[in-house]
Amino acid sequence: MVYHHTEDIQKALLPYRKKNRSIGLVPTMGALHQGHLELIAQSQVENAITVVTIFVNPTQFDNAGDLKKYPRSLSKDVAMIETVPGNFIVFNPSPEHLYEGNVSSKSYDFGGLETEMEGTHRTGHFDGVGTVLNLFFRALKPTRAYFGEKDFQQLQIVKKLVEIEALPVEIVGCSIVRETSGLAMSSRNKRLNEAQLEKATLLHKTLVGASEQFETHSIEAIKKWAVAQFEKNPDVRLEYFEIAETNTLKTASEKKKNTSYRAFLAAFVGPVRLIDNMALN
Ligand code: PAJ
Repeated sequence: MVYHHTEDIQKALLPYRKKNRSIGLVPTMGALHQGHLELIAQSQVENAITVVTIFVNPTQFDNAGDLKKYPRSLSKDVAMIETVPGNFIVFNPSPEHLYEGNVSSKSYDFGGLETEMEGTHRTGHFDGVGTVLNLFFRALKPTRAYFGEKDFQQLQIVKKLVEIEALPVEIVGCSIVRETSGLAMSSRNKRLNEAQLEKATLLHKTLVGASEQFETHSIEAIKKWAVAQFEKNPDVRLEYFEIAETNTLKTASEKKKNTSYRAFLAAFVGPVRLIDNMALN
């Protein structure tokens, strides 16, 4: 069942709330793939009902062309969710309805998590993500909400958001689902042709190389090596490669003891911007 209005979906959830049964939330922008379905499957196992939001959120796009070209396929998405065993409903509001006529972002201080990596390259992006998720959390009051490590910085920011907004929801992180080629699944992959999909595997290959070198090489040397991989492959344009502390996302230039690190990158294949990340230790 697909709901377009807040009042209608709230009514549908009322019986669950009255009986104190758990509600899982999986926020998405649609154009679903196996990565989304894994989040939905985990929520189905852990909750009495799962709400999947399908909403291409205008306030988190810093590029009007990217927003316009974002793939949309509501009926196909619903058919895909139906293949996952369990009880679900879909929320697909219009921007004007969800934002009550004021389609704009709140401005958040996520304690520095928002100023690294994606934050420096996509102005206002995390304000848009925080604003829309705050609206969903308040309207749907889920018990748990599920997010992929594919967007690791987003996952950390969502944990901070629920702290700032004092929202009683448990945030669950789920591992990255990849194609057999290693390419992280993404709705944006749908815009790549076969040759580009092959080229895009460089992102994952570089992360694997970085993790193999992590114990034996300095961060500086690994970063240099990573940049060189992209210089050898001019069809994939690197925007950034960073190694950052897992918890704070502060980019690192030297390894500290007893600290967990991850590598993060963003690169363009043709006009399509892709991101990926991997644990290093
Ligand atoms: P979207 O890109 O549609 O992703 C929805 C959720 O699916 C996110 O939590 C994302 O991390 C997860 N996901 C995407 N690809 C994945 C993969 N290959 N493996 C595991 N999880 C994956 O992220 C957003 O939408 C939006 O920013 C949103 C949170 C919905 C707010 O608008």
